[in-house]
Amino acid sequence: MFRWRQVLFAIRNPRAVFEGSKEPRKQFSTRVTMCDKFKLPVRYGAGEASVWVEYIQLAAEYKPAVNLGQGFPDYPPPQHVIKSLSDIASPDSFLLNQYTRGYGHPRLVQNLSKVYSPLINRQLDPMTEILVTNGAYEALYSAILGHVDEGDEVIVIEPFFDCYDFMIKSAGGVPKFIALKPKPTESELTSNNWVLDEKELTSLFNPKTKMLILNTPHNPLGKVFNREELEVIANLCKKHNVLCLSDEVYEWMVYEPNKHIRMATLPDMWDRTITIGSAGKTFSVTGWKIGWAYGPQKLMRNLQVVHQNCVYTCCTPIQEAVARSFEFELARVNTPECYFNSISRELVSKRDYFVKVLRENGFNPTVPDGGYFIIADWTKLKNKIDLTSERDKYQDYRFTKKFAKEAGVLTIPPSAFYSEQHKHLGEDFARFCFIKKDENLALAEKLMKEWNAKKK
Ligand SMILES: Cc1ncc(COP(=O)(O)O)c(C=O)c1O
Repeated sequence: MFRWRQVLFAIRNPRAVFEGSKEPRKQFSTRVTMCDKFKLPVRYGAGEASVWVEYIQLAAEYKPAVNLGQGFPDYPPPQHVIKSLSDIASPDSFLLNQYTRGYGHPRLVQNLSKVYSPLINRQLDPMTEILVTNGAYEALYSAILGHVDEGDEVIVIEPFFDCYDFMIKSAGGVPKFIALKPKPTESELTSNNWVLDEKELTSLFNPKTKMLILNTPHNPLGKVFNREELEVIANLCKKHNVLCLSDEVYEWMVYEPNKHIRMATLPDMWDRTITIGSAGKTFSVTGWKIGWAYGPQKLMRNLQVVHQNCVYTCCTPIQEAVARSFEFELARVNTPECYFNSISRELVSKRDYFVKVLRENGFNPTVPDGGYFIIADWTKLKNKIDLTSERDKYQDYRFTKKFAKEAGVLTIPPSAFYSEQHKHLGEDFARFCFIKKDENLALAEKLMKEWNAKKK
């Protein structure tokens, strides 16, 4: 009898059993209160899994033959970069296993100053104007949390790297979105055709506007903002006393004849620009997770405060390895072999190859001018794919999941890069990453051809 009661109680109150309750009713009411008390803080919203978490899980579950989802190379980084790290793991370098300077390892900030000073036409102070962070991700976090206050508005250009929105909201800020839209064109669609409406952009600026986030070269479109476009943004920032957070992690991946222009170099923009870079993207070592921000000392101070109370200091051996890698490249900076120059040459042939593959397989790609992603419209394939078995709200999620399962090629749904009110703008597209081995791009081609052939 006693046992049955226990069993019945366990069925009705599984959590109570799990938590080891002996006094059912009383404990249960306490537990409800505890659940409420320990729910996710409001500033983190509903806490949904990001597209990265969801799609990495998807990849693990369905094991697609080719993963063109996440943005990382599936081939080795430059040899000297690997060597710089392996050299450090020696008993002679034992102090490199210990904490280093919180705002950035001295050898790294000195080299960052050497790399960027000539590019921005001013001497960057390595100690006060550069902060080394845990990937560009933490640089974004420190900049947003360090500058955005309760009720401040931040202008975000869509599609956007998905964490911007979350970081702004968790700082108490209010994101204001404006979407890049493709202009109709007679010739091939390139990322240059995706433009901002100047009137709409102007209308977003008001006394509450604190910051605008720019991403050039752009993820996921590959757009490289030209001088005129940057001037429009810069003039509005100056007129309304707004800070520009310029995410330039793909700064070295720009395809001829486009040129990467750093927002900080536009007239009077240095004083109101924080620029962000990434060792992961620069040296094709995304797992190293070292990034940086640079800008005027008075703006950088706020980032230092966030960083010192959150991360405090980044991994010493990796910072040392990044510093040595920069030294290696600085010694050949004006040669075609320098990785800052060769990476675009290496990637442009992959881009051209894969654009062709996409066109031949029913997609309509936007040719990127920078970065290593291609956004491609998949809607011509609509009548070949039955999406009814997929449950997601947005059709690009349904398409990318079904396509991964049927064709074995994993891509990313771009609606993840739009605000809730504009998600429909991303629904017709899939994002393909092309910084992959030629043989894997060729495998993707084969799989897509086979898939298309089956659907005839
Ligand atoms: C636009 C953009 N910003 C920032 C990051 C984050 O870079 P990291 O890996 O250095 O944190 C990424 C990574 O994909 C990115 O695409």
